[in-house]
Amino acid sequence: MTTTPNKAAAPSVDAPVAEAPAKPAPSAPPKTERPYSPGLEGVIAAETAVGYVDGANGRLLYRGYPIGQLVEKGTYGRVAELLWTGEWRKSAKLVPAPVPDPVMCALHELPRHTHPMDALRTAVSVWGAWRRPHWPPTVDQARELTAFAPSALAAFHRLRQGLEPVAPNPKLSLAGGFLQQLTGVDPDPANARALDAYFIVGAEHGLNASTFTCRVIISTRSDLASAICGAIGALKGPLHGGAPAEVVSQLHEIGSPDHAERWVREAIERGDRIMGFGHRVYRAYDPRAAALRKVAEGMSDMAEWLDVAVKVEDVVLRVFGELKPDRVIKTNVEYYAAAVLQGVGLPPDLFPPTFALARMAGWGAHAIEQASADKLIRPDARYVGPAEMDVPALGH
Ligand code: SDX
Repeated sequence: MTTTPNKAAAPSVDAPVAEAPAKPAPSAPPKTERPYSPGLEGVIAAETAVGYVDGANGRLLYRGYPIGQLVEKGTYGRVAELLWTGEWRKSAKLVPAPVPDPVMCALHELPRHTHPMDALRTAVSVWGAWRRPHWPPTVDQARELTAFAPSALAAFHRLRQGLEPVAPNPKLSLAGGFLQQLTGVDPDPANARALDAYFIVGAEHGLNASTFTCRVIISTRSDLASAICGAIGALKGPLHGGAPAEVVSQLHEIGSPDHAERWVREAIERGDRIMGFGHRVYRAYDPRAAALRKVAEGMSDMAEWLDVAVKVEDVVLRVFGELKPDRVIKTNVEYYAAAVLQGVGLPPDLFPPTFALARMAGWGAHAIEQASADKLIRPDARYVGPAEMDVPALGH
């Protein structure tokens, strides 16, 4: 039998509330002994077998394979399957898929000035509304999304120029098919290979902001389309995937390597961020920058741009060493990603969504892994707001 606590009759709702005796303001919440790390810097928030970012030694492994070897010996299709399934299959292929009709209708409705990242996010969102992918996310869902996304972005790019979209050529690779649908002609094989290498390099990078966003959304048992839309939103920021486009304008602003020293010092003194440098995890040269620099050096008519970029890079690294001696700031992936993306003929505002196309593989792999962990991601926060107090009496 439950006993009801001995309670005085509850005052009627309209009885005047007697001034409660002033409560001693409780002391501020106890400082928790748990460490607080702004931006979760250095916090281990998941266990993953998908990718290993060895920040101290500048190493990157996808399911144990070093990024340099994957670029030399792999294709994006094989690397995507490796990330999704954990298996290296030589026969794995990923061909560009047609844009589903509901997605194409939505792309036709977008204003021409739409930011390409917003266009890609819209395409994924409409795919989710149409396809209704169930939780848990599957390799098939990841494959389907990764295969049509380049076609959707290319279709948007043509529509915003007043051109009709081009159907994908299934004989081409995903990267080659993307270039073909952008221009309407089959790409130079060297450019297709260079972009495929970029896709491999951009495919996965541990718990970066966009992948973490994807995992948080999956951890609530939400669907893959919602998770990828969130990830695209995170990647859009200039501190994350928006950097390579800024690298191009930065180098344009610097003009010649002779102006680099002054430009860099002034930028750092203003507190500006030099795009293409620094990283939350790497305290060494980003192995992806090295891989993409090699790819760019093999591209036709990039020699002059690269010559300036390499000289400016040397100046930036030297000045960082002098002005920020306590923080190892090295070149990151975006610096030479800008060279490759420009070299295959993409306009700078397509750099971030092209990065998103590449990262679809890693996002999908992490979504699948998070679903199998099936643990809601919900960190705590240290409350630093006002101590408890009463709402002022009515009329005050
Ligand atoms: C990507 O996480 C990932 O893996 C991301 C990514 C992936 O594959 O998913 O690798 C892709 O996002 C690469 C990074 C692309 N972004 C840029 O190139 C933008 C420029 N970089 C910076 O904004 C910065 O380096 C970050 C954001 C990338 C990392 O910054 P952190 O680790 O949060 O370091 P911080 O901002 O706390 O900076 C520490 C100090 C600061 O100096 P103080 O104010 O303490 O004196 O270093 C300075 C910063 O000012 N600093 C820079 C700098 N990077 C760090 N100063 C100028 N220019 C920079 N680029």
